[in-house]
Amino acid sequence: MSRKRVAVLISGRGSNMAALIEAAKDKTYPAEIVLVLSNRPDAGGLSTARAAGIATETVDHTTFGKDRPAFERALQAALEKHRVEIVCLAGFMRLLTADFVGRWEGRMLNIHPALLPSFKGLDTHKRALEAGVKLHGATVHFVVPEMDSGPIVAQAAVAVRDDDSEETLAARVIQVEHRIYSLALKLVAEGRVRIVAGRCRTDGAAMPDGAFLAPEA
Ligand code: GRF
Repeated sequence: MSRKRVAVLISGRGSNMAALIEAAKDKTYPAEIVLVLSNRPDAGGLSTARAAGIATETVDHTTFGKDRPAFERALQAALEKHRVEIVCLAGFMRLLTADFVGRWEGRMLNIHPALLPSFKGLDTHKRALEAGVKLHGATVHFVVPEMDSGPIVAQAAVAVRDDDSEETLAARVIQVEHRIYSLALKLVAEGRVRIVAGRCRTDGAAMPDGAFLAPEA
């Protein structure tokens, strides 16, 4: 089976992007990263991608002013040029219109640093600490027009410690982000994830039996 052609869209340091590039180095991985696209020319992830020999493009949103459709036409042109089949948003800090999202329905993933549907939006670690949740984590989901919604492909949880700061919590969450993003992309690229009534069903996936309790005695 041919590997799916994937673009990773970033705005910043690109550590999730780097994790996807790393996973896709394995020739048996069902996806290859053919493009890293940034809306910011100064995104740190661009040099990481170039160093890994991946094609990069920048579509600077500031040059389009308020003209979102024009920005998205430029995104779409870059994706078509590289014959992209699946789009992975990875710290891509632009909202996309329903029109663009619709074009990529069932073929665009996002990673969010919280256990959705809790803590949609920004500052998720700060809000998780304020809420006093004992489990926090990350979610990979298909993108739908409504922000941080859409069928959930995979989630990973970490325990929240009493002495956590935003930084220490973020440091543990990002580690599981890197693991679930490559896992979720693998499942989707293999065609094993079906969306049924707005929810993901995964063919042939093992589900862990154990429960994760926090705190422990
Ligand atoms: C990650 O926490 C991701 O969940 C969120 O933005 C951050 C991007 O980090 N959407 P990186 O650029 O992948 O390192």
